[in-house]
Amino acid sequence: MIMGRGLVNRLLALLAALAAVPLPSAARAEDGYKLWLRYAPLEGQAKAKLDAFKPRVLTTSTNSATLAVAAHELIAGLNSLDGDKRDPVGSNPSTITLDCRPGNGSDGSFEVKSLRHEIRISGADEIGCLYGAFALLRELSQGHDPAKINLAEHPAMPLRMLDHWDNPDGRVERGYSGRSIFDWWKLPEHLDQRLIDYARADASIGLNGAVVNNVNASPLFLTDRYIPKLKRVADAWRPFGIRLYISVRFSAPKEIGGLPTADPLDPAVQAWWKVRADALYAAIPDFGGFLVKANSEGEPGPQDYHRTHAEGANALARVIGNRGVVIWRAFVYSAEDKTDRAMQAYNEFVPLDGMFDANVILQVKNGPIDFQPREPFHPLFGAMPHTRLMFEGQITKEYLGQATHLVYLAPYWKEALGADTGRGGTVAQIIAPAGMAGVANTGSDRDWSGSHFNQANWYAFGRLAWNPGLSSEQIAREWAAQTFSRDPQFLDKVVPMMIASRQAVVDYMTPLGLAHQMATGHHYGPGPWICDLQRPEWNPCYYAKAGKDGIGFDRTAGGSNALAQYAPSVGAQWANPKTMDEDYLLWFHHLAWSYRTKSGRSLWDELVHRYDRGVAAVDAMTQTWSSLQPYVDPERFADTADYLRIQAEEARWWRDASIAYWQSVNGLALPGDAHPPAHSLEYYKSLSFPEAPGQ
Ligand code: GCU
Repeated sequence: MIMGRGLVNRLLALLAALAAVPLPSAARAEDGYKLWLRYAPLEGQAKAKLDAFKPRVLTTSTNSATLAVAAHELIAGLNSLDGDKRDPVGSNPSTITLDCRPGNGSDGSFEVKSLRHEIRISGADEIGCLYGAFALLRELSQGHDPAKINLAEHPAMPLRMLDHWDNPDGRVERGYSGRSIFDWWKLPEHLDQRLIDYARADASIGLNGAVVNNVNASPLFLTDRYIPKLKRVADAWRPFGIRLYISVRFSAPKEIGGLPTADPLDPAVQAWWKVRADALYAAIPDFGGFLVKANSEGEPGPQDYHRTHAEGANALARVIGNRGVVIWRAFVYSAEDKTDRAMQAYNEFVPLDGMFDANVILQVKNGPIDFQPREPFHPLFGAMPHTRLMFEGQITKEYLGQATHLVYLAPYWKEALGADTGRGGTVAQIIAPAGMAGVANTGSDRDWSGSHFNQANWYAFGRLAWNPGLSSEQIAREWAAQTFSRDPQFLDKVVPMMIASRQAVVDYMTPLGLAHQMATGHHYGPGPWICDLQRPEWNPCYYAKAGKDGIGFDRTAGGSNALAQYAPSVGAQWANPKTMDEDYLLWFHHLAWSYRTKSGRSLWDELVHRYDRGVAAVDAMTQTWSSLQPYVDPERFADTADYLRIQAEEARWWRDASIAYWQSVNGLALPGDAHPPAHSLEYYKSLSFPEAPGQ
């Protein structure tokens, strides 16, 4: 049938109108649920190469759940990459062989090698074969030639974990992606498919453990009622190599045990913990262990009984024995201690070096305050040579724009991991005997992580825990190729955009080493003027120390001397404001507004310049993204464009509110080319967001 021009035009008009109409969700082809495991059909040369290979899948062992998962992943992945036309057990001669011995206890190392008519995946154990299968699919997904695969990998560290700050009622502390993925209410009878899909995603990037509940822990997780629930999840995760851990509340012996005390040296308390641990291990033989936040931000701990952190940790470690670990958090600072908050964890824990039992691991945040957009690495790394230290990063972006801001965190973590402690290696080397834990950004949202680009941070965390030597660019490129498009023209633009996003957020929120200027409580948006909270270190003004004379926290010998907590060679690199990396300037120095920075600008002008630079960087990201429309499906393109609009507005809000406040303090005029704040300081102060998520 030949359509008349009029009809064609009417059809086009209808289609254009339809594009503007919100369609029911079933019509959304891409909602982000598949994460980086989309296995989008290959095209062109890459497709021809896969067709030439046409493997069928073989396994060496048929009765292993993990190998079944690996084989299923390979079949489904290859089908999908081939456009779903493959006969998975075709008659051609090529094979993929899964060659690994059953059994646990090995570390997941694997090799993937292309031979003639064969790709051989070999692992020291079944999990190695599963990781090898995912690694092969990652290669093929990027369009790499199946005839040229040659991988030999082993994990850089034994524990590669996610910490979920999820409460039993489904709320997630610092969660910006819906409700908890754990529905404890329906467990154990009903296990949501999402928990299987979650374990698969974790395994695909080499993660091997998860703490299922908030560090501000409910004692419920230690009750008999929760054991079958935990068991159901642990059983579902086992084939994927994910071990289950729980956060425990130190005062649980009193709260649910009916004891008069939770003193870790009290025999009745120890006996109570032993019974709880034994009950958990009876149900879950590979239970990972306990994560503990003690004597921190009001949580109970051994110091309530005049015991040390080591005494508290060891009491729990002894009931776990060689079955698992106790991960004890070093995130402590106290209401009574008047020393610089950045120094308190070091002061508390360094004297305890060598006193922790062998199955205790100390979990240390990347920096000494609290997951700020930029912090120097934590001085504890390298300072406790007789204690296993683990790295804690935050994948959920509590202080970096929460759900909506596009901030790729690999460069952020690598800054800390790559730092030379001056005491026997880089941070990555110091933590190698223990591991890394990331505070998860997963939730019930269809896209899992609150935005499509937040998925990149989950992905990057797992990849870096597997190999901290991977570059941020490589991780971004492989993630974007699997998640969006493997077209090099797309990747060449999206990867630099992701890399630049980290410095952008630093610049528009807390440039030049400023920190913790977020409004208190929800930490959403700027609040540099806040100075009236009872605990001084909960006020943004505590961190900026802005006055007529200048701005910044003096951590030199003339000030708190936090610099002395670092190895002399490291401290020296930050001691002189004239020679140091100015990204950390106001973290370590209090300087006059007129101080000359390296650019030749005064400190005030440089600060304003950096805020502007941050806003401009977000505008550039917005432009880059609009140029990428041809490569991205309409759904995820539009979601990201919307969020970039929010980010552009909020970057301006951050800049303008901060500048308006600093001006009220220093009385200085803006540099000639700077944008005056869009509103008055009073306006910014009047904003309130009692309903902000994640609290
Ligand atoms: C931050 C965060 C809290 C969290 C704490 C922790 O302070 O705002 O919600 O409980 O870190 O790491 O324990």
